[in-house]
Amino acid sequence: MSRTFFVGGNWKMNGSVEQYRSLIKHLVEAKLDEKAEVVISPPALYLLPSKELVANSPIELSAQNAYFKPSGAFTGEISVAQLKDAGIPWVILGHSERRSIFGESDELIAEKTKAALEAGLKVILCVGETLEQREKNESIDVVIRQLETATKGLSSWDNIVIAYEPVWAIGTGKVATEAQAQEVHAAIREWLGKAVDSQTASSVRIIYGGSVAAKNSRQLAEQKDIDGFLVGGASLKPEFVDIVNSRL
Ligand code: 13P
Repeated sequence: MSRTFFVGGNWKMNGSVEQYRSLIKHLVEAKLDEKAEVVISPPALYLLPSKELVANSPIELSAQNAYFKPSGAFTGEISVAQLKDAGIPWVILGHSERRSIFGESDELIAEKTKAALEAGLKVILCVGETLEQREKNESIDVVIRQLETATKGLSSWDNIVIAYEPVWAIGTGKVATEAQAQEVHAAIREWLGKAVDSQTASSVRIIYGGSVAAKNSRQLAEQKDIDGFLVGGASLKPEFVDIVNSRL
């Protein structure tokens, strides 16, 4: 089955009012592959005003994180229900920076995933191994374990995109080779086939993240099980358009 190519731009904690406006303007005016699904993820502060800027374009918005409780005394957090209410359709969950810097566990990510899907959001669920784990040949085991915990008891995979982001490749300029990425993506798909069913295995998008740039995206996008990208640094640059257009 053919899966829609998906490119996400994770801006992380970058940008200013002036920058987010000009980045989105550039993107909205660019000629983007009509067959690609494009989702950008500015800092939460800029999500609502960004909505107006993407309103007449196919570009969708994502939050970079959310809390699973619907409301209450959780200073500094934004709930999945609030994202839904504000008309933000996507949320990134389980990003390695949330795991390593903010101490998010697989169990917390599972709660967030469940709550986000129940609230009607779509989820970009991130998994990935550290350099140490890769050197010990544990990449696939780690990624499958993260996925297993985060998606336990899930009733539908329709609104999930899996992002494989090896920690050693994030922000380092050290992109995974096509073979390294393809191997893990294929293992994830095989796991989906066994743990869920063959229909899910063939329909869920598995995207790659970690030092994706215009100079490496085409080769990665040719791999059988790489259905797109989650782009960090390069999503803040004009080359993001070339990454979106990797399959043109
Ligand atoms: P870079 O593209 O900057 O390596 O970041 C990847 C990432 O973490 C996307 O979520």
